[in-house]
Amino acid sequence: MKTYRAVLVGTGGISDAHVNAVAATAGRVSLVAACDIDAARAKAFCDRHHIPAAHTDYAAMLRAERPDFVLIAAPPGLHADMSIAAMEAGAWVLCEKPLCASLAEFDRITAAEQRTGQRTACVFQMRYASSNTHVRGLLASGRLGRPLVAICHTLWYRDTAYYAVPWRGRWATELGGPTMSQGIHAMDHLLSLLGDWTEVRAIADTLFHRIEVEDVSMALVTFANGARASLVNSVLSPRQETYIRLDCEHATVELTHLYAYKGENWRFTPAEPTKSADLVAAWNAFPPDVGSTHGAQLNALIADREANTVPLTSGAEARRTLEFLTALYKSAYTGQAVTRGSIRPGDPFYTQLNGGLAPKRQKG
Ligand SMILES: NC(=O)c1ccc[n+]([C@@H]2O[C@H](COP(=O)([O-])OP(=O)(O)OC[C@H]3O[C@@H](n4cnc5c(N)ncnc54)[C@H](O)[C@@H]3O)[C@@H](O)[C@H]2O)c1
Repeated sequence: MKTYRAVLVGTGGISDAHVNAVAATAGRVSLVAACDIDAARAKAFCDRHHIPAAHTDYAAMLRAERPDFVLIAAPPGLHADMSIAAMEAGAWVLCEKPLCASLAEFDRITAAEQRTGQRTACVFQMRYASSNTHVRGLLASGRLGRPLVAICHTLWYRDTAYYAVPWRGRWATELGGPTMSQGIHAMDHLLSLLGDWTEVRAIADTLFHRIEVEDVSMALVTFANGARASLVNSVLSPRQETYIRLDCEHATVELTHLYAYKGENWRFTPAEPTKSADLVAAWNAFPPDVGSTHGAQLNALIADREANTVPLTSGAEARRTLEFLTALYKSAYTGQAVTRGSIRPGDPFYTQLNGGLAPKRQKG
């Protein structure tokens, strides 16, 4: 079996998760080089993880190493151009969230995929837990009945030191606040469970931090299947929690965690406990537990590459999530409900997530 050559760009906070992901491929992927503009950091990282080559120039690394996979963990404002450059160099890409700054950038990535025949997948590791595949299957089979009401909370806490890192807190470099940076995980997860959204009404405000982007957003969402959802994305919540709840016709399904989960994080409550033995048995048939890790996603990406199938977090599903986040911001900054498909070229929100309308920073 082929061993794929991978390189990593960005050796900061999240980079160890990518090293662990490569380890989780059990030899299918070898990390042959890493790159950071901070030479000392790149060298220390490569020494620590026994990676053969440390680089400081991304384009030079692509030319020198000829990788099969590029793992992108640089700041968000660089993701789109780095993804396109990697595909031009003949690699598949696993790029950290958020994948890009706008639907216009996403469509440039799609054009590069078509031009090069390579794929770029966004890191959304919440989709890849084996327990999630089980729950998705139960929803798709209709066993749980119609999803009716949903809750999606990202209640996290980020202090002032977090926003002291220069690329954070700015539209140009972080690309958004807890909507794009933190809640993006749970919202993508919710969309992957409930399917197409049709309308969103939202608010986004900067209540505490002295940053350009929002530090809280809230939204009411309608789904094509008729379900209604209430969303909160916050970095102002000292007791941190990620919470997804689906009230379906036959049962409530809940997932409570922080940053990562396994089978034990799910909770199931049938609507009619005395008549639900079959449903409870179906719920309890969880597969062997693989958590929501970067490694689970990288293994799925290898399988997609070998089968030439579209990764779950590329193409239409990834665009659906980005379109949703864009619509959330558009609703917040225009005060109007925004419907799916309405943000097209020519709309200021197509090229800029805040449409140029984000309010001036409030006092901290
Ligand atoms: N999937 C997750 O759960 C998760 C968790 C945390 C962060 N992230 C994402 O990972 C990305 C990186 O976040 P982080 O917290 O590791 O940031 P970080 O600031 O700790 O690390 C970023 C690194 O990129 C380097 N860098 C900057 N410009 C570069 C360039 N042109 N070429 C090469 N290296 C460059 C920096 O020197 C730094 O070492 C962000 O997009 C973030 O949203 C994802």
